[in-house]
Amino acid sequence: AAPWRGVIQEYRDRLPVTDATPVVTLGEGGTPLVPSAWLSEETGCEVWIKVEGDNPTGSFKDRGMTVAVSKAAEQGVKVVVCASTGNTSASAAVYAVRAGMLPVVLVPEGRIARGKLVQAIVTGAKLVQVQGNFDACLAVARGLTDRYPVVLVNSANKDGYRLAGQMTAAYEIVDVLGDAPDLHVLPVGNAGNITAYWAGYQAYKENGPATRVPRMWGYQAEGAAPIVHHAPVAQPETVATAIRVGNPARWEDADAALEESNGRIEAVPDSEILRAQAHLASHDGIFVEPASAVGVAGLLRSHAAGVLDPGQRIAITVTGHGLKDVETALDFAGDVPQLVVPPDAEAAARLLDLG
Ligand code: F0G
Repeated sequence: AAPWRGVIQEYRDRLPVTDATPVVTLGEGGTPLVPSAWLSEETGCEVWIKVEGDNPTGSFKDRGMTVAVSKAAEQGVKVVVCASTGNTSASAAVYAVRAGMLPVVLVPEGRIARGKLVQAIVTGAKLVQVQGNFDACLAVARGLTDRYPVVLVNSANKDGYRLAGQMTAAYEIVDVLGDAPDLHVLPVGNAGNITAYWAGYQAYKENGPATRVPRMWGYQAEGAAPIVHHAPVAQPETVATAIRVGNPARWEDADAALEESNGRIEAVPDSEILRAQAHLASHDGIFVEPASAVGVAGLLRSHAAGVLDPGQRIAITVTGHGLKDVETALDFAGDVPQLVVPPDAEAAARLLDLG
């Protein structure tokens, strides 16, 4: 097979680009879709995991960012701005500097994982900490783009470029499985991704290889579950910092995806998120950040509640890499036994009780 060329080149006819659009890419997309023996056995379903942490900056955001920044480059933009809980800022920073633009990233003060912060810092991005949560960051970002010559690269943006790029994840899943799964499961924060997947599956049914669409099952963290509870959350709180969002910009679109697909949305407690994160690593060898384990935790919770029919084919998106936030994973792991030996194989064998 030819080497993967990034989502714009691979899905050019489905994206809002022309020959005049410079392609700003790091080869994003084409991520693994791997079967989970563990989750399949637990649920009696056929469970596949879409590993989005394998994107260039370690999250699914790169799919949309390649499109948003390429379009900004086409328009001669010099400065791009985004609000972020961390992953969008990492992605925006990297794609912007690749296009010769200045990235301005607005993050909640002191509340973002260090692995994400460093990604923006090393690019030389203007990193602005806002004294407020993600929702406040987005309000500031919109205020800037309304009044100054800067372009917003959030998925909330009206141009839809980010979402168009993120739709490619649904295309890839259908391309691998041969058709849409019965069920698609994913975490929901600002609700851009659930909106994009639903649009992607629909587009692939209307004019593509798919013969059907899945039901969409979204999950939010219990302390940041405005869509579940039908009310904004003033002080969203969860260990899954990426989805600490109290008033999602794509709320209505998410509601539409849930209703049209005959889906469901539920909340999961932090304790189950952290357990799912640890089990995904120890059973399947897939290390994701806490927010990315929310779909796994949710699926297990729905299964335990008896609402998951067996025998279904399920795709779960795990959205970002575990190395983004090592502190949380190490805290959860607790006291790991210190196995220290002199440089001697026999001593190591005795300690490991090998013989
Ligand atoms: N998982 C991860 C790892 C994320 O970073 C995000 C969103 C989500 C899930 C939820 O996706 O917002 O489209 O519903 N992160 C945004 C950011 C808010 O700023 O990086 P969503």
